Formats: sequence, C-alpha cells, structure tokens
Amino acid sequence: MTQATQATIESILQEKRLFAPPPEFSQQAYVGSFSEYQQLYDKAKANPEQFWGELAEQELHWFQKWNKVLDWQPPFAQWFVGGKINISYNCLDRHLTTWRKNKAALIWEGEPGDSRTLTYAQLHREVCQFANAMKQLGIKKGDRVGIYMPMIPEAAIAMLACARIGAPHSVVFGGFSAEALKDRLVDAQAKLVITADGGYRKDNIIPLKEQVDRALADNGAPTVENVLVVRRSQQQIHMEPGRDHWWHDLKQEVSADCPAEPMDSEDVLFILYTSGSTGKPKGVVHTTGGYNLYTHMTTKWIFDIKDTDVYWCTADIGWITGHSYIIYGPLSNGATSLMYEGVPRPSNPGCFWDIVEKYGVNIFYTAPTAIRTFIKMGEHLPKARDLSSLRLLGTVGEPINPEAWMWYYRVIGGERCPITDTWWQTETGGHMIASFPGAIPMKPGSATLPFPGVVADVVDLDGNPVKGEEGGYLVIKHPWPGMLRTVYNNPDRYRSTYWEHIPPKNEQYVYFSGDGARKDKDGYFWIMGRVDDVINVSGHRLGTMEIESALVSHPAVAEAAVVGKPDEVMGESIVAFVTLESKYSPSEGLINELRQHVSKEIGPIARPGEIRFTDALPKTRSGKIMRRLLRSIASGQEVAGDTSTLEDRSVLDKLRGGA
Ligand code: PRX
Repeated sequence: MTQATQATIESILQEKRLFAPPPEFSQQAYVGSFSEYQQLYDKAKANPEQFWGELAEQELHWFQKWNKVLDWQPPFAQWFVGGKINISYNCLDRHLTTWRKNKAALIWEGEPGDSRTLTYAQLHREVCQFANAMKQLGIKKGDRVGIYMPMIPEAAIAMLACARIGAPHSVVFGGFSAEALKDRLVDAQAKLVITADGGYRKDNIIPLKEQVDRALADNGAPTVENVLVVRRSQQQIHMEPGRDHWWHDLKQEVSADCPAEPMDSEDVLFILYTSGSTGKPKGVVHTTGGYNLYTHMTTKWIFDIKDTDVYWCTADIGWITGHSYIIYGPLSNGATSLMYEGVPRPSNPGCFWDIVEKYGVNIFYTAPTAIRTFIKMGEHLPKARDLSSLRLLGTVGEPINPEAWMWYYRVIGGERCPITDTWWQTETGGHMIASFPGAIPMKPGSATLPFPGVVADVVDLDGNPVKGEEGGYLVIKHPWPGMLRTVYNNPDRYRSTYWEHIPPKNEQYVYFSGDGARKDKDGYFWIMGRVDDVINVSGHRLGTMEIESALVSHPAVAEAAVVGKPDEVMGESIVAFVTLESKYSPSEGLINELRQHVSKEIGPIARPGEIRFTDALPKTRSGKIMRRLLRSIASGQEVAGDTSTLEDRSVLDKLRGGA
C-alpha cells in the first residue's frame, strides 16, 4: 500500500465524532430509523433475489416480466433474465400519464448565465425527435454511439435517445483530447458521434467539433459514419459534407413520435471508459434492467428524493456520476434534476451558491475536491447567499477528510443537513457504501454502511477477512444489479481485473474494488484510497500507465514513471519522473512541452503538476519500476521500507539529491 494510504489510516483513526441524523429529516425520510435500514439490509441478505425482484416489480415499468431475477455464472451475472424494459420509458413516458407531465425534469443553467427548463413532456418530445434523427442517420438497435458534449440539455437528450432505440452510448468527457476520443471511438466501434460546435468551460470555449474532426482525420476512427452537431457556442466550424449534420436542421424533418424499444434486461445500455492499473482505459459495460433498478433505488433512498425537491449533482455527464445521478436515477424517480454547464472559476467563484439560491436547491451532491476549493475561497462566498433551501448534502469521488466534512456540514449545511458520503465506482453503477441520511448516524470521513444487497468486506490478498480494525482490500462478495457485466470486447480482462485478483475459493468469487479500506468496531467502512496504480486527481481516475505512455510517445522521452503526491485541494497531484533520450537535455522549455504533450494526448486533467528529469529510474532486478520509492521522493518523505530489491542504489541517492 502507498505512503499516502498509510497517512490516511492514521489520521482517520483519531476520528471519533458521531452525528445522529437530524430528527426533522428522519421524520420525513423514506427510511427514517436505523432499525428500518437494518431490516432492509437483513431482508436483502437473507434472500437477495426476492428483495430485488419485489423492488423491480414495485418501482419500474416492464414490457415483459423476467423469469429469473439472477443468473450467476461466476464471474458473469445476468439480472432479470427474460425481462423486457426500456430505461428511457422509465425516465420519461411513465411520468407523462401522471401530474408530473408538466413538472420540471431538467433545469439547466449555462455558464454564460443563460438557462432552460424542460418539463417531462418537453424532454420526452425532444428525446423522441433526437432518436428519430439518429434513426434517419442509420442508427439501429445495438449500434454504438459516441457522445462528446458540453453540459447542455442535449447531452442528456442524446443519452436518453440512445437508450430509447437501444443504441449503447459511450460518453467521452468533453475535457478529453482528440487522441483520447479517437481511442475510445475505435474501441467501441462507434458508428455515430454526437457533439457540439463548442462548449463553455472556465470562460473559454472548448472547440469540441474541431477535436472530433481531429479524431476522425485520416480515417482515425473508421467505423464512424456520421457526426451529429448541436449548436451551442456559435463559433465557425467545418462541416464535412455527407458526414456532418446539424441537429437543428434534422429536427425540422423528424417526427416527435418514437416508441421506446422494448429491450432485453441484459442488452447493453452504455459503455463508459475508465482507467485501470494497466494498459488502455477499459470499456466498462452496463446493461439495462439491473442498472435501471439500482440507480433508481439508490437515488430514492440515499438522496431521499421527493417530488418537491430540486436536486443538483455537480458532476459532468462524462463520468459515471453524471450518468447515474444526473440522468438515469433522478429521472427514473420523476425528480427535478439540475444541470450546470460551468464550474467555479476566478471570474465567478460563488456561482454554485448563486445557483442554490436562485433555484432553491434542496439536495446538493458534489466532490471533496470541490469542497476543499470552497474552503480555500473562504466562507464569505456561501455566507453571502441564502442556502436555507438545502436539506441534504452528498459527497463522492474520493475520501473526504474529516475537517472538510465538518466545513461542509457547518458552512454549507448550516448544521441541519445530513451528509451522505457515497462510496462507489464506474464499475458498480451506483452507490455501494453510503449513509441512509435519515437512518444512519454519520462519522466524518466514513462512507458508513453498505446498501441493502451489498455484501462488503475488508480482506487480505488471500481473501481472508482482516483481523479487527486492520486495513485491507475492499471487496464485494455477492453480485448486485448495478454491477458492470464485462469489459467491452475483453471478458478476460473483466475476469482477471475484478474477480481473480483475490483468488476464488470453492467457486466463491469476490469483486476486487482496487481500494483499501478499514472497518471499525461498528462495522463502518473507512475508504483509504486506491491500492493499485491509479491516481485520483480531483476525483478523476487516471492510470499511471496511460500518462507514462503519453510521455514516452514524445521523441525526447526515453522512459517515464508517474506517481501521485498528496495535494491539499486535488487529493493527489501528478508527478512524472522522466529520463531523456541522449540528444535532449533538461530545460524549463522541455517541461512545458511535455506537459502540453500529455494534455494533447489525454486531456488537461492528466497534465503532470511536476516533471522531474533523472538519469535513471529506481528498478528492481527484474526491471520493475519501484513506484513506492518514487512516491516517497515525490512527497519529500524519507524512503522507508525494504530497498534491498533495488538494482542500483546510487539511483536513489541521485533522486533524493533532487536530480
Ligand atoms: O478510490 C475510490 C474513489 O473513486 C474511485 C472510483 O472512481 P470512478 O470510477 O471514477 O468513480 C467516481 C464516482 C463514483 C474509487 O475506487 N471514491 C469514490 N467515491 C469515494 C471514493 N473514495 C472514498 N470515498 C468515496 N465516497
């Protein structure tokens, strides 16, 4: 485990504060006491299939009922086998026959201050038209569609339209580079790309369409036949005749009638790429029925979402949080989901609080990195706004340090809002360990207890539960409806990464999360961060391998090793150790060039904060880079632990001397 992880264990061990759910909250909550939570948990544990089967029947619309709740052929699971369902139907159509028809489904605020509200009826109409436009471009059930969009309503519309006609979407975060986009389009064999002319981000315009042009240049992604372009930023762009189509043009021609396609429960809903410890990003595959139920139930119980609530999740739709908790979970519940195009920026550091006040936001879900940024910006910004509408706060993406939790609780929540710290992953589809806000007492820094149906544990590498409150690997011991089904086109990678990392015993497979954790005497989980070569920068998952490959693709770089260094605001920052080809010598200019190069290859989020040149990297005799040592050096700590496997000790001395 990393140095950073050990430091976290120590600081967290001192945390003893306990906050009971506020009684006013519990009184109105779906799950209003610990014993109710316990009953749900016990019921799910005793008979998971009955538990999920009953909820699926009560909470969702099915065109045809399943004949089996779970078919578990480890490590491959199928949920609601034989059932027919459409998540876009559950998110839209079924609300139209109720009073919700004219309720706000999406409230959208643009970065420059423009705004739009779409009722369920309006959103349904737009989705149907968008789906028909895609059909007109030849998209059929099963075809993959890449979505590379700013945070505008059409991003949600495009996703729901794909779901409606059964075309799996693969959303690529708008901050990723043309190269990263190309890799993902190629891997998913996308037939269509949906994008916009540009999107606003931190007072600049991101030239999204230009990036798509670059990704597709020289037949870069040969399966892509068409590009559907939404107008947002109004700047001049190139439209390739025959390939590129304006959404506003097609919209004139298509009907608003597009029945939702009855999908098999296990038909693919989407592929979302995420970083792992080795190789290229993995295409995490989520299917329809189980994901719909899981995001629906976690949204309902963890956010205690009610018809009167305005709910705001600040994530980008390019990440799983945006998929599950801006779009599918909230809309399936008939909720009002707020979507914001911008982020706090020097020109508008108080924009989040302006929005809370403007729309009377009741439920607010953000990341620890954002909270730490707000702390730095100062209390005067939130204090200048009326935040009294807030009733529940959430956090996700990385461990929240207890002091940041306390600030969030006090300054944003006015000591009246419970905080739900939600631990989950792209792979899990939805919340796995998180407090039921009306039922589970909170401990700052702990994600608390598992969701009903989630059997979580902390084990050693042999799969044996650790003793007492020791740290170990966080695993899940039973399949759950929202779980990933495979890695796209790579079932072997799915098997080896997630289910065989801890060797199965007697056919008992356990899911390896890649996180370290500790369970305290009350059974509360304390997440300690990644134990693999994944860095969490501002809640974004980046594989060290990806950044290293990007660096090595520059002609000056011979070898590169990338590690994370603890950072007060971002959680971790990226430090790269680089050896140069003999013709090149270290310079400030080269550092800038390499940082720029990584930005071009992957995206600005992967740009190393620091680049250090060195003559050689510390390696074992078998040639493996000893990242543990580099982590210590990067964070200025003494190199502790065993260095006997190091091939050449002088390398270490030189690095320490600040090579
Ligand atoms: O390390 C954990 C951290 O984020 C990782 C998952 O990243 P990603 O797939 O991008 O999904 C992020 C949004 C769900 C996890 O392996 N993580 C996520 N939530 C928490 C967390 N770490 C601690 N506490 C959390 N609440």
